[in-house]
Amino acid sequence: MTSHASHQQAAKGSDAGGLRHVAIIMDGNGRWAERRGLPRSMGHRAGVEAVRRTVTAALDAGVANLTLFSFSSENWSRPPAEVEFLFGLLRMFIRRDLARLHRDGVQVMVIGNRNDLPPDIAGLIREAEALTADNRRLRLLVAFNYGARDEIVRAARRLADKARRGAIEPEAIDETAISSALDTAAIPDPDMIIRTGGEFRLSNFLLWQAAYAELVFTPVFWPDFDAAHLNAAIEEFGTRARRYGRVAPNPA
Ligand code: IPE
Ligand code: IPE
Ligand code: MG
Repeated sequence: MTSHASHQQAAKGSDAGGLRHVAIIMDGNGRWAERRGLPRSMGHRAGVEAVRRTVTAALDAGVANLTLFSFSSENWSRPPAEVEFLFGLLRMFIRRDLARLHRDGVQVMVIGNRNDLPPDIAGLIREAEALTADNRRLRLLVAFNYGARDEIVRAARRLADKARRGAIEPEAIDETAISSALDTAAIPDPDMIIRTGGEFRLSNFLLWQAAYAELVFTPVFWPDFDAAHLNAAIEEFGTRARRYGRVAPNPA
């Protein structure tokens, strides 16, 4: 397919031009607020609106998997009031949006370390995952208390424990075994990672899974992100030649 044809297909919303998984580093909430003379928390609140718009846009574009980086394992080092505010937003999002997400055929999953989360949040996450487990239109992965290195450490411990119990031979630990021990087991690797907010880094997001992701950086602050920005990124993705180490461009 030519990039023109794949662009048309993405625009029609029949599929996302070969994109099975879009992951987004939602950055720039604080600066968005500071530019307006508002407290950073108002940027986070406005960011929730951008999440709603983006989920709708991903449904319209036919994206199968959407991962949103909401709170990193390093974000604990922010002021306690900001951490508490971000936890509150997750609670509010699940309480207010879960029914509509379920109606829209969205499967909600949360990746990240649950052990350090307040018990009520862990309960809300379990409730959201159980209610939406059979939905197939869009899988929404919320990366909350997520860090890629922490995820890899937890996977390594899981595999080491299996080996100690004799359930796996060390020689049988291959790339598939490691992928399957990560929080994203059974989910295809991201085809594209978008970062808003103007920084050019991954900040410990999906390091293993990003091996061949196309990276798209935009200066737009997350609270301003909308369907047009998502569609522009999908169009940009359509122009990329993914070679996976080979010589010839992928003819698909
Ligand atoms: C992203 O916005 C949201 C989280 C990391 C929780 P920031 O809060 O990082 O906003 P900036 O980067 O300071 O503008
Ligand atoms: C990455 O943004 C984490 C999330 C978007 C949740 P940060 O704002 O925490 O990243 P750094 O500190 O600029 O690398
Ligand atoms: Mg930031």
